[in-house]
Amino acid sequence: MKIINNHYQLSGGVDPLALCEKYGTPLYVYDAHIMERQYKRLRDAFQVPDLSLNFACKALTNISVIKFLKQLGAGIDCVSIQEVQIAIAAGYQPKEILFTPSGVSIKEIEAAIEIGVHINADNIPLLEELGKRNIDAPLCIRINPHVMAGGNEKISVGHIESKFGISHTQIPQILEVVKRTGLTIEGLHIHTGSDIYNIEAFLEATEVLMNLAMEFPDLTYLNFGSGFKVPYQAGDKETDIEAFGAKFSERFNRFCEAYGRTLSLHFEPGKFLVSEAGYFLVPVNVVKTAPTKVFLGVDSGQNHIIRPMFYDAYHKITNLSNPNGTKEQYSVVGYICETDTLGTDRMLSSAKAGDILAIHNAGAYCYSMSNNYNSRFRPAEVMVYEGKDYLVRQRETMEDLLRTQTQVDVFAKAIA
Ligand code: LLP
Repeated sequence: MKIINNHYQLSGGVDPLALCEKYGTPLYVYDAHIMERQYKRLRDAFQVPDLSLNFACKALTNISVIKFLKQLGAGIDCVSIQEVQIAIAAGYQPKEILFTPSGVSIKEIEAAIEIGVHINADNIPLLEELGKRNIDAPLCIRINPHVMAGGNEKISVGHIESKFGISHTQIPQILEVVKRTGLTIEGLHIHTGSDIYNIEAFLEATEVLMNLAMEFPDLTYLNFGSGFKVPYQAGDKETDIEAFGAKFSERFNRFCEAYGRTLSLHFEPGKFLVSEAGYFLVPVNVVKTAPTKVFLGVDSGQNHIIRPMFYDAYHKITNLSNPNGTKEQYSVVGYICETDTLGTDRMLSSAKAGDILAIHNAGAYCYSMSNNYNSRFRPAEVMVYEGKDYLVRQRETMEDLLRTQTQVDVFAKAIA
């Protein structure tokens, strides 16, 4: 977002305050130019014969966003049968979808097989089960490389204590099951975490996968997951994707030579593609001066954006209504009956009730992790592209909240 003539503007000159007028608040806004920029950056960072960038759609599961990324050339990574169904509704063929569940029921796996998507197995009992059923579809296997990588503990998922994947030390068991049951393994996969700044940790996990790959003769791809870090505030670290891409491509091409065949290289980015594209626009309800702080109470809370509470994540906040005002210190808090602090002691342009604040980096894991706590409606979502705005999800209504509830009048007996 840029300030032009004392007004914030999104790409294509779109005025975020006008979007608030038009669609109401709070409002999620996605600047599709930023998704496009990020997709191109990632694509151009790798020099390999065959690259697939599969959008990890859990980051932002909106069908119009998924369609937009599909048009750019992205594949898709799904972690639940419902995400698979949304991907198909967005126009993906089952064969274009990788389904990477974690410990789901065999019923869910059966449904995925029925649909015909590629399955990424993350446990040995599942391999046994699939082997027993003689399924003819080739499989991918998710490996746990035992590497600690990720922005915080909750989002580091490739270490020895993590529930994800099959430990790389269990390769003999995997090979035994595969041989005994005649399964075909077409791909190997790792995903070590999110917000990984340290390229070296990433490359270490990569080596584990490339070594194991030599044991599997039928591979057509290797999938290195994601975790590329984007900046959340000025001066924040980000993965140097261009440097990483150059180093990685060289190593991958060398691997393919040793393997004796060119494999397709897969990544499945979420944050990198959509985090910076999103802004969450919230009005200030009240400016409350307390003995040690000035609170800006906003018309939203952890129900709509849980990352600050869940991960202590930092999301930059700006006052869109007063672009060049004098800076004052505020704590931005939500309306939920919990301590839902969105930003502590931030320097923002002087604010008053009715001003609109933008919470940045709201594209990834914000709407998709939102909920109805305190019986609040989830907000609307708008996508902006080439100067135009598109409503891509309606704001919820009371009807939505009551739709799945049934009213049963059970009369409690008076307690004696
Ligand atoms: N592939 C797999 C198998 C994953 O589990 C994930 C994210 C990704 C790819 C995409 O990772 P990304 O490029 O977005 O880092 N809710 C947390 C992030 C958890 C991500 C879970 N898996 C957050 O808000 O930081």
